[in-house]
Amino acid sequence: MTRTEPLRVGVLASGRGSNLQAILDATRDPAYPARVVVVVSDRERAPALDRARAGGVEALWLDPKAFSDRESFDAALVRELEARRVELMCHAGYMRILSGVYCRAFAGRAVNIHPSLLPAFPGLHAQRQAIAHGVKVAGVTVHFSDEGVDTGPIIAQAAVAVLDGDTEDSLAARILVEEHRLFPEVIRLVAEGRVSVEGRAVRIRR
Ligand code: GRF
Repeated sequence: MTRTEPLRVGVLASGRGSNLQAILDATRDPAYPARVVVVVSDRERAPALDRARAGGVEALWLDPKAFSDRESFDAALVRELEARRVELMCHAGYMRILSGVYCRAFAGRAVNIHPSLLPAFPGLHAQRQAIAHGVKVAGVTVHFSDEGVDTGPIIAQAAVAVLDGDTEDSLAARILVEEHRLFPEVIRLVAEGRVSVEGRAVRIRR
């Protein structure tokens, strides 16, 4: 069945927000089947929140210090998202570990972007790990989020070459170009109802 209303997307971001920007830019096309209804950050001064405001999207800061533990923070986060009827969460550089409280609430409805070809190089500094390992091909993965770190079913990947003389920064910049293309594309596929999960395998109906 074709949806008439755009998919209501929330974005979690702790930092720079360039992936958020790519998503916001995509949603400017009236034919794009999703829109961002809220951007949430755990960092008050995250540039991502400024990008949200500049794009006319609600920017919400939740202060981790105001909560006694991870679960109560995440419960508040879930309440805020449910109040805005968020249908899909996009994790775009969110640096906090998400607890079961959040993961259960958004199981199958949250996607994360990670700058490596998973399952290689999960966790922090993926591009540095790729350089240190000497791989010749690196890239980006968009996957469903689960309770592990960068472990959920893979929706889409894009590869880039690692060149002689690459540094962590030069490789990260090459990967970022693919991130900005891939994340909005995956959101489109989800919004169009083309994505289904069977165990670890994600099927995409083209
Ligand atoms: C990106 O490399 C993303 O893959 C990773 O964190 C970085 C966030 O960058 N999860 P930005 O804040 O979207 O610019």
